[in-house]
Amino acid sequence: MTNHPVPELLYNYSLKPYNTFGFDVRAAIFTRLTDESALPGLLRFINTYNGPVLFLGGGSNLLFTRDFEGLVVQVATKGIEIIEEDDEFVYIRGMAGENWDDFVRFCVGRNYGGVENLSLIPGNVGSSPIQNIGAYGVELKDSFYMLDAISLRTGEFREFTLDECNFGYRNSVFKNELKGQYLILSVTFRLKKNPALNTSYGSIAAELEAMGESPSVDSVSRAVCNIRRSKLPDPAEIGNAGSFFKNPVVDEAHYEKLKGEYPSMPAYPGSEGVKLAAGWLIEQCGWKGYREGDAGVHSRQALVLVNYGNASGSQVVDLSKRIIASVQEKFKVTLEPEVNIL
Ligand code: FAD
Ligand code: EPU
Repeated sequence: MTNHPVPELLYNYSLKPYNTFGFDVRAAIFTRLTDESALPGLLRFINTYNGPVLFLGGGSNLLFTRDFEGLVVQVATKGIEIIEEDDEFVYIRGMAGENWDDFVRFCVGRNYGGVENLSLIPGNVGSSPIQNIGAYGVELKDSFYMLDAISLRTGEFREFTLDECNFGYRNSVFKNELKGQYLILSVTFRLKKNPALNTSYGSIAAELEAMGESPSVDSVSRAVCNIRRSKLPDPAEIGNAGSFFKNPVVDEAHYEKLKGEYPSMPAYPGSEGVKLAAGWLIEQCGWKGYREGDAGVHSRQALVLVNYGNASGSQVVDLSKRIIASVQEKFKVTLEPEVNIL
């Protein structure tokens, strides 16, 4: 049998800098994957290790309610590479540990279109397909080409095409049938050389006008950054994981009933029903700006729950349960967390 080096293991390791809520929890064992050549040793260790394993990107969609009594692997493989191009498209691969916004900068800086509306989303390239990240009228799936992954059970490499990922709103095969079964190693995107820009989402056109600029890959990216900075708290200043809940989808009859009662309620009709704005529902229940100790609801975006410093994950989860109950009672709508609660 080949002798693969065992990964460097760190014990009782603080995860505070590795989750954007800033919760002060520890991993029983922590290691970093910086090079794919270390994969065989890592997988061998995982397969002999009798405990839970968590792959960690930027920790921007995770909520720890307690110490992680298992192995945390921070995926830190780097590299962005143009792998192919033709007159219309360019195929760009990002390694899993690349920062997502650095990947966006790489594309925007070369005027390749497709991910500019996804500017400034925290986290890494390798995590971006897990919930099919989306913002400002665009989702990852719109420019996704394929991804490379490795099976944790068999050690086999596998490519996933767009269809195989089964992307939906904040959803993919990796949150369902294949949950916890694959480590994503790299993601390849198909960017456009002559992109049709998407400025349809509410405030983008208004922001471009305020900036005095016409739409381009670069200006749309900057407009999105401006809007995001004005609404969303920066995790470096206030702990948070972005939208805590998904926007709920209701059937037409339920929507019509609510619309009759609340004519100004924002709503987005789609193929699977009508999507409602969870932030609006939460605000209507009086939670916006609410604070209890160091856990709270952001004052500019009611969909974002925050840790002002020393809250625990359990305190934020308790608060989220009360928010779910009050939205259920007032609107008969069930909110589901977007954040992965551990
Ligand atoms: P992590 O939180 O580290 O992990 C998320 C999940 O992916 C975990 O289950 C983890 O085990 C798994 N995972 C991570 N890496 C791998 C891998 N290589 N292979 C297999 N599994 C893996 N999301 C949006 O969609 N749109 C937004 O506009 C948006 N805005 C945000 C704004 C703020 C301020 C914050 C804090 C978050 C926001 N998010 C948004 C959520 C978050 O940025 C995304 O979900 C992001 O993709 C998470 O990436 P991450 O690397 O931090 O993942
Ligand atoms: N709204 C309120 N009060 C609030 C917040 C929002 O009334 O406190 C209203 C807004 O006025 C608007 C509507 O709700 O009419 C939608 O608000 P916004 O445009 O801010 O977007 P969102 O639906 O709250 C979603 C995503 C974000 C993404 C933005 C922009 C989800 C769960 N969230 O938020 O993604 O950045 O749209 O596209 O789909 C994330 O997933 O972490 C995330 C931040």
